[in-house]
This record gives sequence, C-alpha cells and structure tokens, in this order.
Amino acid sequence: MTEPLLAIKDLRTYFISKNKEVRAVDGIDLEVYPRQIVCVVGESGSGKSMTSLSIMRLVPQPKGKIVSGEVRFNGEDLLQLSEEQMAKRRGNNISMIFQEPMTALNPVMTIGRQISEVLLRHQKWSRREAKAKTVEMLQKVGISRAERIVNEYPHQLSGGMRQRVMIAMAMMCEPKLLIADEPTTALDVTIQAQVLELMKKMRDEYDTSIIFITHDLGVVAEMADHVVVMYAGQVVESASGDQLFHHPSHPYTKALLESIPSLNDDKEILFSIPGTVPDAAAFPKGCRFADRCPTARPSCTEAMPELREIRPGHLVRCDYA
Ligand SMILES: Nc1ncnc2c1ncn2[C@@H]1O[C@H](COP(=O)(O)OP(=O)(O)O)[C@@H](O)[C@H]1O
Ligand SMILES: [Mg+2]
Repeated sequence: MTEPLLAIKDLRTYFISKNKEVRAVDGIDLEVYPRQIVCVVGESGSGKSMTSLSIMRLVPQPKGKIVSGEVRFNGEDLLQLSEEQMAKRRGNNISMIFQEPMTALNPVMTIGRQISEVLLRHQKWSRREAKAKTVEMLQKVGISRAERIVNEYPHQLSGGMRQRVMIAMAMMCEPKLLIADEPTTALDVTIQAQVLELMKKMRDEYDTSIIFITHDLGVVAEMADHVVVMYAGQVVESASGDQLFHHPSHPYTKALLESIPSLNDDKEILFSIPGTVPDAAAFPKGCRFADRCPTARPSCTEAMPELREIRPGHLVRCDYA
C-alpha cells in the first residue's frame, strides 16, 4: 500500500484569549494519499481553518499556538522544521488557497508580477521564462485574455477571476499538496462549478493531492475521494466519499446530510441542526455533540467516545454508531 503524502497525528492548536484556553483544534488525525481529494466538512467554528493554517504553520501569533502533534509531509515532521526550512516548503511543496482572494493578493502589484514572483522565489527561472509560464498558467485556469490580465491589478478583476488567479498562483510550482479553504464560497454557482472542475484537472495533470475545506455537502459529493467530518475541534467521522453518503454513521453527519435540500422535493429552507457548537474554551467532558444529538443516551455525557473503526477505513466517534 502506498504511504500517505500527509499524515497528521493528534494535532492540537490552542488560542489564549482573555486568559482562557480556546481549543480550536483538539487532537486531529488526518491522512492524505497521493492524488487524493480529501474534503473536510463541519459547521463554522469546528476548527477547519485552524487545521489548515497549522499544516502551513501560519497560525496567528502570538495568541495561537500548536501545542502538540505531528504533521508529517513525505515522512518529514513539518512542526520540527526551522522557519526558514518551512518557508521553502510553502508554495514549493504545499500551497494554500484562501476563501477571500483579496486578502492573499497584493493590491498594488500587477497580477503578472505576483504570479511570477512565486516562480522567481522558488525556482531558477529567468524573468522572461517566468512571464511566459505565467501567461500559460492563466490560460490553463481558463482566463482567455491572459496577456492583458498580467498587466492588471487585483481590484480590476471579478471575484471569479481573482479566485482563478489564486489557483494559478497556487499551482505554479506544481505543489504536491494543495489546501483550499472554502475557495468557492464567495463565488456564484456557475463560476463555482468551473473552479471545481479546474481543481480536479490540476489534480489529474500534476498528481496534486488536495485538502478541500467546505461546509457545502453538494461540493463534497462532487469532489471527495475521502471525507473527514469535524465537530468542535475533533474528527467525528472519516470515510470514503461513497461510504459517507451511503452509510453516514455519526449522528452529526446524519444531521448534516439532512440539511442538504433534497432535489426531489421543493422545500426551500435549509434544515439546520438545532442548538450550537459548544464553546471551545469550555468543552464538556463527554461527547461534544451530546446536547444536540437526537439519539444521545445518559452515558454519552460521561466520557469522550473514541474514534473507532466500524468498517475498514470508516471511523466514527460514537459508541452507538
Ligand atoms: N484568532 C483567534 N483567536 C481566538 N480564537 C480563535 C481565533 N481564530 C479562531 N478561533 C477559534 O478557533 C475555533 C476554530 O475556528 P476555525 O478553525 O476558524 O473554524 P472553521 O474554519 O471550522 O469555521 C473557533 O472556536 C474560533 O472561535
Ligand atoms: Mg474557516
């Protein structure tokens, strides 16, 4: 069997906020195999972004801190690298696409300049070669007037265009791992579909593995080889895309799936799960979903259920699944 490209073990990332310890990521295990698309789903506040920022070692300082765990990339623990070594991995081996491209693009630098900077920083290209490669990459992400766009600034582009530019930048160094944190949330449906297709094409062409973070289960169904469901800083279910949609086993996953509007009925209101995610500064000692769970039993609030394998490759953090 092939080795995972990325193997996260017991990752914990905490914040100190008003003298309280906020456990944003609280013991995550996650594996990504070569060419695999792993979707990470969960409601807002479940720790998805902090997991990806931890992999990139971009957790906001000084309040946030990775307190323990391993993030093995090609066998090497990223958490043990010096800042200088880590900087070389970013962009070169691992790239990230953020939800709001404006925050990641430099407003006073032309598109062409910022994309070629990525190349010039990481590889031995001449300026001329970098420019040609930039135009080629913009064309690949479906930007037809690439020759013109290289001379434009981020604010001159539409949201969909900016997101494509971000993807072009992220793919420029042909990373082994691409982390996309809700990359299509701000886009309209048509553009979203195009961006998703594009990312799959990139996977096929460059053998890139992708961690795709989203709270949209329609997107998960479209993209995922494997799905990891997060709740309150933990993994509550992990399974192949097929298993997850056909045999959802954690009550939280089931509730999430019921929240997808069905195509063959005309209810328009999204089902939402009653109650709220528990406060990450004061998690209960038992199952973190117990107070919202329709099938909770008294024992559920007494001890934290372990993540256990109910079928080969299908893990669930529920004693009654
Ligand atoms: N800068 C921060 N300071 C303190 N707490 C934070 C900060 N950023 C995120 N958190 C907390 O960490 C938890 C996980 O957040 P996040 O990873 O952004 O969730 P998600 O991406 O799943 O919506 C939340 O409880 C959030 O309030
Ligand atoms: Mg987030």
